[in-house]
Amino acid sequence: MSEQVINRLKDPENITETEQKHVPVIEADEVMTAEGSFEVTVKVGELPHVMQDEHYIEWIELSLGDMKIGRVELSPSDEKAEATFTVEPTEEIVGIHAYQVCNIRGVNVCGKCGSKSVVMKLDALASCNVHGLWESKKEVTIMSSHEDEGKACAWHK
Ligand SMILES: [Fe+2]
Repeated sequence: MSEQVINRLKDPENITETEQKHVPVIEADEVMTAEGSFEVTVKVGELPHVMQDEHYIEWIELSLGDMKIGRVELSPSDEKAEATFTVEPTEEIVGIHAYQVCNIRGVNVCGKCGSKSVVMKLDALASCNVHGLWESKKEVTIMSSHEDEGKACAWHK
């Protein structure tokens, strides 16, 4: 089986109509707390994609980093090309990724306030039966829920 091409927004200064109708729009809180529960809505796209028998969005998938959150199957009878997912980040994510970030760009645990956070990417993938796969990403900060660790660290910037 050959790998399917994944389309993404090519030039933010010059967005085509096809991109406007297919690039997933991720609506999510910019900051999430570990052990919390957060709704993330993915809409395809900025201009709503049609849902017709001959042309529709087949499914929408959401991941957080390399963890798959879920996939929602759609059909032409669905009114909108959108799906809502529940993201429940764990403390382990903050711990593991803080360590990974540490190896690449320094420590992501602020020494002064003891805050602990990690920046990850929500990754939305949508499949149009005519125009193929479309992907977009959105940065989200995951904070530890532990006391004295509730402030986002700005070191990632
Ligand atoms: Fe399409």
